Amino acid sequence: MAVLSLGDHMNEMLLFLHYIGFAITIGAALYDRVYIVRNIRRAKGTRLERDLIRIYLSTGPLFSIGVGFILVSGIGLTLINDEGFFRRSTVGLKQTLFLAIGLMFPLYIMPIMRQINRLLTAVPDGNASVSDQCHSLLARLYPMLDAVTIANIVILAIAVWHPAFQ
Ligand code: HEM
Repeated sequence: MAVLSLGDHMNEMLLFLHYIGFAITIGAALYDRVYIVRNIRRAKGTRLERDLIRIYLSTGPLFSIGVGFILVSGIGLTLINDEGFFRRSTVGLKQTLFLAIGLMFPLYIMPIMRQINRLLTAVPDGNASVSDQCHSLLARLYPMLDAVTIANIVILAIAVWHPAFQ
């Protein structure tokens, strides 16, 4: 029977949290992209459209919880395995991509989300129509969030296949 040290248990525990974080993040992102966005498009011009956009924007906190799990467990795994930060390695590549995604949020994604929220709140509840400005902000937001989802999947592929570094 294999005898596991405290370090091994810690490693397993952190990996478990790492996977949970990824599952939450990718689950929330795909649900939003596949179901909510499709229904926002179908509901164009109706009162439902505004409500669905609000629901779409409200996934933020769940997404942040997933990212928080990945980040905290990832830093723990990096320290336990003595991998270092931003080195020329699989983990370094993952950290760099993750940082790039992370920076997109305060720089581009969150300001757009805040603007959309402001536009939605500015219109009285009885008025069903979502403004053209709001539509064009959404049209900018979708590809950015798609890029984040694709980058997350690329990071998963890197973690699983460990590309060789010279
Ligand atoms: C979407 C983001 C991420 C995904 C999908 C992901 C996925 C994974 C997976 C699947 C493993 C297990 C690999 C194996 O057992 O062979 C792993 C391990 C690890 N991850 Fe992540 N990870 C992500 C982000 C991060 C971040 C941001 C860090 C550091 C801050 C990090 C640090 C590590 C470390 C140190 C290990 C253990 C060593 C290794 O397997 O190379 N990960 N990750």
